[in-house]
Amino acid sequence: MNVLGIETSCDETAAAVVADGRRVLSSVVSSQIELHAQYGGVVPEVASRAHVELINPVIADALGEAGVELSEIDAIAACHGPGLAGALLVGVSAAKALALVTGLPYVGVNHLEAHLYAGWLEDPELAAPLAVVLVSGGHTLLVVIRGHGDYQVLGQTVDDAAGEAFDKVARFLGLGYPGGPAIDRLARTGSRDAIAFPRAMPGEPDFSFAGLKTAVVTFVRKHPDASVADVAASFQEAVVDQVVSKLLAAADEHDAPTLVLAGGVAANSRLRERVSEVAAGTGRQAFLPPPELCTDNAAMIAATAWWRLRSDGATSLAAGADPNLRLAGS
Ligand code: KG4
Ligand code: ZN
Repeated sequence: MNVLGIETSCDETAAAVVADGRRVLSSVVSSQIELHAQYGGVVPEVASRAHVELINPVIADALGEAGVELSEIDAIAACHGPGLAGALLVGVSAAKALALVTGLPYVGVNHLEAHLYAGWLEDPELAAPLAVVLVSGGHTLLVVIRGHGDYQVLGQTVDDAAGEAFDKVARFLGLGYPGGPAIDRLARTGSRDAIAFPRAMPGEPDFSFAGLKTAVVTFVRKHPDASVADVAASFQEAVVDQVVSKLLAAADEHDAPTLVLAGGVAANSRLRERVSEVAAGTGRQAFLPPPELCTDNAAMIAATAWWRLRSDGATSLAAGADPNLRLAGS
């Protein structure tokens, strides 16, 4: 069964064809990063307009790369939230229009659930329960997954998302947008022990990054000659410490043999290294989806839709988009 997935929740216009929820036949991602970089962040109206221009060519590319015709597709899925309202509507409308003309089922997919599925896409045999930390530009969630659709959210950020912290600190340091990859690169040349930035909310499942961001700003203002690479490496280490310690505590508490990273920040090289280390050190398995499945993509939407279609059936064409959609467990 081939599912065409569409993702337009933020600044990536993406389409993919995935067979049976696990075989990625194509995954096309057209990033609008250059368009938004001049503003230092995503401008919602600019994003919506770019999605409108890109959506049809991106869908055509996804079908072309997969080597399938629309007649060989069995369901059409789109991310219907959370995300930017105008941006979401472009993907949802395109998917519903295609479903209407072809008579195929339409499946609305939760973006957060889709990020959680990136791990399963890579390895459908992953052993549950899975301790997952979803760290992206808009969300930071600590989740235990017991089975398909069976999630328990253990903790979340009380202020900024992890990726948001990377983006804000990078902007302050003059490293450009998006900040995560820029800090990741620069941190490799700095010392992660140079500055002792705070690790927020120890022993709790919730996250906080706003105080860390303020600590970076205060430090740099006091020490204008400090090495930017050292600041980047020490900041990154503080984020990674916070994320890894909570992930490990969740795995302990819920007897999870597998640690999983999800979301754009899961592309961070130091975070990946540390999660691999703690997994090895505690007799667990680390599951780190490849960076292209961590950042926003439509393969994760198509894979999630395959499971959702089997459990819940198709989504009504009368359903819209929900910018504030939450992750619901069962
Ligand atoms: O999941 P994603 O592509 O979009 C959202 O759903 O938000 O995540 C984007 C976020 C951005 O904040 C970006 O700076 C961050 O992921 N990111 C990284 C890295 N690559 C992307 N953060 C740290 N290190 C990276 N290598
Ligand atoms: Zn995302």
